[in-house]
Amino acid sequence: MLILGLNMFHADASAALVQDGEVVFAIAEERLNRQKHYGGFPSLSVKACLDAVGARISDIDHVAVGQDTNANLAKKFQYALANPAKILNFIRMRQRKEGMRDVRSLLAKALDVDGKKLRFQEHHLEHHIAHIASAYYCSPWEKAAGFSYDGSGDFVSTMMARCEGHEIEILDRVFLPHSLGSFYTMICEFIGYKKYGDEGKVMGLAPYGKDTYRHEISQIIALKNGSFQLDLNYFKPLGSNQGMQVLPDGTVRLARHFSDRMEKRFGDPREPHAEILQRDMDLAFAMQQRFEEVFFHLLNDLHQRVPLDNLAMAGGCALNSVANGKLFQTTPFRRTWIQPAAGDEGLAIGAALHTYHSVLRQPRCHELKNSYLGPEFSDALIESGLKKAGLRYRKLERESLLSQVAEEIGTGNVVGWFQGRMEWGPRALGNRSIVAHPGLPNMKDVLNARIKHREWFRPFAPSILAEYQHEYFEYDHPSPFMLHVYKIRPEKRKELCAVNHVDDTGRLQTVTREENPLYYDLIKVFQRKTGIPVVLNTSFNENEPIVCKPDEAIDCFQRTKMDVLAIGPFLALKSEN
Ligand SMILES: [Fe+2]
Repeated sequence: MLILGLNMFHADASAALVQDGEVVFAIAEERLNRQKHYGGFPSLSVKACLDAVGARISDIDHVAVGQDTNANLAKKFQYALANPAKILNFIRMRQRKEGMRDVRSLLAKALDVDGKKLRFQEHHLEHHIAHIASAYYCSPWEKAAGFSYDGSGDFVSTMMARCEGHEIEILDRVFLPHSLGSFYTMICEFIGYKKYGDEGKVMGLAPYGKDTYRHEISQIIALKNGSFQLDLNYFKPLGSNQGMQVLPDGTVRLARHFSDRMEKRFGDPREPHAEILQRDMDLAFAMQQRFEEVFFHLLNDLHQRVPLDNLAMAGGCALNSVANGKLFQTTPFRRTWIQPAAGDEGLAIGAALHTYHSVLRQPRCHELKNSYLGPEFSDALIESGLKKAGLRYRKLERESLLSQVAEEIGTGNVVGWFQGRMEWGPRALGNRSIVAHPGLPNMKDVLNARIKHREWFRPFAPSILAEYQHEYFEYDHPSPFMLHVYKIRPEKRKELCAVNHVDDTGRLQTVTREENPLYYDLIKVFQRKTGIPVVLNTSFNENEPIVCKPDEAIDCFQRTKMDVLAIGPFLALKSEN
């Protein structure tokens, strides 16, 4: 049975293919059309899914969309009636969304086939159910508490659930306009980070701040008996899309979230590219602190209702790896399974798996063991790309490649590492990565000056052999998808100085041989040469979506000051090119 999952006309459009209950392929459209956070129809992703298994669209049995415009209608109407100025906007949005519901026509057009030949059944799943499904059904568990939170989806910002067998029982929803994601976005905008997806950057700024605004910021979002409530005086009315607009070309734009009240209380908002003042850092600090307090409050309430050790989690806010890293201290949950694509691209997987298990009543049989669900490319294709680019390169055996790359990293060179299937989700996890020495004091500046050009306050992440985690970090809970931040042990901070953030933490990826044998062995060889079981890992890109195809990697290598490109079995050195 083939189920195609879709996230469409929403940020991070994507497609995923589930074959007999197993996720066999998944990709976000941005990786193929090279438009970051693309929010249109994922035509290229659908084609890539079909190509991956040699299927045609007429072979698809079910299509599942992670959006249901009819979900929570009563709440939407209630909101529209209370905000008369937004009624016209509300009606227009519904009309637009109705047009998008014709999945059959959209797919027929995208694939240039006769719509009458498409035999699939269509399913629309509520946004947060799809998020929770994307985590729980990929986990190894038969029982878990399910939690999803983000800016908004189908008029909901937070959902709690009890997950058991193939059932997801919804226990609670937090409806708009109350949204922990919007709270975070609003303050990010106020301090000059206004683009969709900027929240992750500001998370890195927070530890530079001081505890100045705890009281003021906590008044913006109040705790409420297992839930929370925004003080809407600080927000502009955002409408049922919570300020997120997808333009006709698929660009995602955020409306201004903060009201004049913020300016009265905290002064002028910071303009992008203006100097970051202590006030901005202090606001980032207070925002992250309050976010965590509300998050833990919600999780503790969830645990009272579902008293289990297991927490299955997704939603854009679940990418807050700083909060994730603290939840073992602050809540009774002992294990997490967080969807690597916790943001909205993950809806494609969640919608497909929910259809398989909950709608079609098929038993659980699948556990997502790694995030390598994207395309891979043959050695022949890679080699022709290298030739076309006019690069000098060598083809190496596995051991020789690992040894030479580890040697290059050891000497302080920066290596583009392109191997196997592309990662699913926003993190590069050793297949589309740039790797470097984690213990050279200037490595962060070198990477930023030569390739990444990121904000000075953003840390780089470590990939560590899983069995050494306890020696280097204060927590043992694995972080295979780079979704937890832990303190680095004091005696190891110097050794990991290039990945040790200002608060002595690291957003680690734990690597096992089972999950990624080649990447594991690379780190192992690096350890043999240097004594350090860790490499610095950042995504293979330069202000663009992470590279997907060999040509994109080769182009990035040529236009930046990357020293080495290890692509498949081929090695190219900048010094020889
Ligand atoms: Fe979402």
